[in-house]
Amino acid sequence: LKTIPLRLGLRSYDIIVGYGITPGLGRFLKRLKLGSDAYIITNTSLKARFGPSVANSLKKSGRNVRFKVVPDTEESKSMAVASLVINDLASYDRLKRVFIIALGGGVIGDLAGFVASVYKRGIPYIQVPTSLLAQIDSAIGGKTGVDLEKGKNLVGAFYQPRLVFADVKLLKSLSRRQVSAGLAEAIKYAVIKDKQLFSFLEKNLSGLLALNPKPLEFVVARCASLKAAIVSKDEREARGIRTVLNFGHTLGHAIEAAGRFKAYNHGEAVGLGMLAAMEISVALGLTDEGALRRVEALIQRAGLPVRIKGVSPSRIVACHYHDKKFVGKRNLFVLSCGIGKTKIVKSLPLEVILRAVRKRIQSPTL
Ligand SMILES: NC(=O)c1ccc[n+]([C@@H]2O[C@H](COP(=O)([O-])OP(=O)(O)OC[C@H]3O[C@@H](n4cnc5c(N)ncnc54)[C@H](O)[C@@H]3O)[C@@H](O)[C@H]2O)c1
Ligand SMILES: [Zn+2]
Repeated sequence: LKTIPLRLGLRSYDIIVGYGITPGLGRFLKRLKLGSDAYIITNTSLKARFGPSVANSLKKSGRNVRFKVVPDTEESKSMAVASLVINDLASYDRLKRVFIIALGGGVIGDLAGFVASVYKRGIPYIQVPTSLLAQIDSAIGGKTGVDLEKGKNLVGAFYQPRLVFADVKLLKSLSRRQVSAGLAEAIKYAVIKDKQLFSFLEKNLSGLLALNPKPLEFVVARCASLKAAIVSKDEREARGIRTVLNFGHTLGHAIEAAGRFKAYNHGEAVGLGMLAAMEISVALGLTDEGALRRVEALIQRAGLPVRIKGVSPSRIVACHYHDKKFVGKRNLFVLSCGIGKTKIVKSLPLEVILRAVRKRIQSPTL
């Protein structure tokens, strides 16, 4: 079991990573001086799978438990579902001792964190991430929110949890596609910050795909501490430090949107976005072809696509201008200066982006 502190003054909290640690959750909560009533937001299948062990652990430590299930789709990240949850929460919260537990992947985590941030101007919440992506990324750092018709994550708040409790044993039931999607984010951390992690991923990829506890626990803990370090230096992405986490995401989001969120899931699109960013980095002379090939090989071995199919380059470039992080038409890219190092570049010319995207398109003859 590893404890990774995320230091943010009065809002500091721990990230716990371990294998088979769920029965001990209640004990961890004791130290946090939370209320007596746990409100667990989850979905039907995750409730069936993990609800009993989470509830037992909480009950043993003297808490009352109420579950709230929401649909298992991105649509749960909406104002409509948030509003239903908040009203239900208000009816449960008679004794004013309620706190929230997010039991699920990034969708549940973002929704539950958002509800916690606005209900009574903020009540405590705990992240119990169940997907690889959530354990290494979305549950950490306090970005909460829901989507609007106009775009993803447009309504939300920075609101930190009181604890992140990642039991890698829960990942056993993930589909292969979800595991690969999580690995895309792990590869991202390695490319931007950690050459040694990159080599570890190269050496242990098959073990990770098989969800072997040892390499999995190592990677989750390593990625969590990389994210914790970045967030504690730049919680609100105001100092250009947290920005590096967007590596592969500028074009990744555009590829996701251009594929109408159906062609590729987030991790797959980020994998392709990282490769496009590597192409740009090579074209600008920031890194060499060798680094690009290493990243490509790892992404491919992780079971992720390395060529864009069925989405046109012009549509991707058009979508990339909708990025909420751009000011006006000034784009912003995190590029690679070799594995472990980055450079942020603003206002990249359109031709450079288009050329890089074209290089990643699956040619019809292949
Ligand atoms: N807040 C942040 O910093 C941040 C960062 C990255 C992504 N996100 C958000 O996270 C969301 C994506 O998260 P995700 O990839 O976890 O998707 P998700 O929450 O939709 O989970 C993916 C699927 O896996 C299932 N699942 C989860 N845990 C499981 C388990 N242990 N066993 C079996 N099935 C399981 C879910 O029910 C779902 O069907 C997006 O909405 C994205 O915007 C947020
Ligand atoms: Zn991401």
